[in-house]
Amino acid sequence: MDRIRIRGGNELKGTIAISGAKNAALPLMIASLLTDDTLTLENVPHLADVELLTRILGNHGVDMSVVGKRLHHDPALGRTIHFNARNIVDTTAPYELVSKMRASFWVIGPLLARMHQCKVSLPGGCAIGTRPVDLFIDGLRALGATIDIDAGYAVAEAKGGLVGNRFVFPKISVGATHVLMMAATLAKGETVLENAAREPEIVDLADCLIAMGAKITGAGTSRIVIQGVPALSGARHRVLPDRIETGTYAMAVAMTGGDVVLTGTRADLLPTAMATLTGAGAAISEVENGLRIYRNGGGISAVDVTTDPFPGFPTDLQAQFMALMTKANGTAAITETIFENRFMHVQELARLGAKIQLSGQVARVEGVSRLKGAPVMATDLRASVSLVIAGLAAEGETTVNRVYHLDRGFERLEEKLSGCGAEIERISG
Ligand code: UD1
Repeated sequence: MDRIRIRGGNELKGTIAISGAKNAALPLMIASLLTDDTLTLENVPHLADVELLTRILGNHGVDMSVVGKRLHHDPALGRTIHFNARNIVDTTAPYELVSKMRASFWVIGPLLARMHQCKVSLPGGCAIGTRPVDLFIDGLRALGATIDIDAGYAVAEAKGGLVGNRFVFPKISVGATHVLMMAATLAKGETVLENAAREPEIVDLADCLIAMGAKITGAGTSRIVIQGVPALSGARHRVLPDRIETGTYAMAVAMTGGDVVLTGTRADLLPTAMATLTGAGAAISEVENGLRIYRNGGGISAVDVTTDPFPGFPTDLQAQFMALMTKANGTAAITETIFENRFMHVQELARLGAKIQLSGQVARVEGVSRLKGAPVMATDLRASVSLVIAGLAAEGETTVNRVYHLDRGFERLEEKLSGCGAEIERISG
């Protein structure tokens, strides 16, 4: 199994190109199931989760072709992929595939909307706590589907098609909002989704669906209204920049010091995280085609943080921010409200010398003046990258094991960091 080896202590200086967002690319790819026409996505990141989803879509019969490499192809520009779901040959999403990535359960929305029936494995356990699918099931039932849970599968049917309705999410869910919005595009009549997620990836999916002929208003607010149409067409859409990758590298720079421009991204994708980082001592300014980050001259200040749905502080940046706080002046309280059990990085950061006390949903991080490199590992992707951030500022050598977690969500991580002066390399085997 590959490992990442880091020798800490270097400041980061240079430019990092931000990739297309994993969490936008996945639902956009799934949206290709809604039409028999070709959906072309640009700026698709090259990630293990994207590859896995191509296998899942391929199993349903989606034809995919990656637009060939051009002369002087710049890997930072992402890939362009055509998806064509003219012939859906199988409406079953099997356990072997769905269990590897939770988001693949989301095919349930488009399959039900277009094929009026499907059988999708329940996603099963997950390293960051129980992640049920009750909101998806209740929402799709509200649109007229019958869904039985049978032998680990959601067996769904909508004879004659889905029918629009009003559905109030009892809890904000990104995935369930994606799925109900997709499903409602082909339902008869009007669907109103209340207490919907407002993440930029929801807006990106809505923009793509609108380009495909869907009638959607209100995406990006907590009330989304969808007028069903009989069929959707193809479209060409560019995946929005990855705000979590943006925040991760911004935190790495705040941690090590230095001066980095993140290209192809925007501050409005992560307002709270940017404000929090500024409070912690980073200077962030908008420059042409991106963001410039450097330390504002002082050290790292402790700032309390609570994770929240967008526009709040993203749970997907909680571990990285905790890594930064391990070297802050003072003590920071970090509260996780989205997922239970999303603190596995605490014990590993402690191996590097961090002082963190856990009590329920709150981690109290008392900054220390030095971290010391050690072998570490983590069981989810954001936790893994938090260990990389800590390793960049630790004295001596840190090896991060189980790199496959990083490959799920961070494109060419070691290349992007070493391009800015970090001593970081992948060791195979
Ligand atoms: C998405 C993101 C993930 C991010 C999360 C929260 C993708 C591919 N993944 O995950 O990176 O961390 O949003 O921003 O976009 N819940 C239920 N019942 C349900 C569905 C969810 O109780 O049917 C709960 C979850 O357990 C969790 C909360 O709702 O506590 C929010 O989860 P949700 O927004 O659905 O996360 P995902 O869409 O899975």
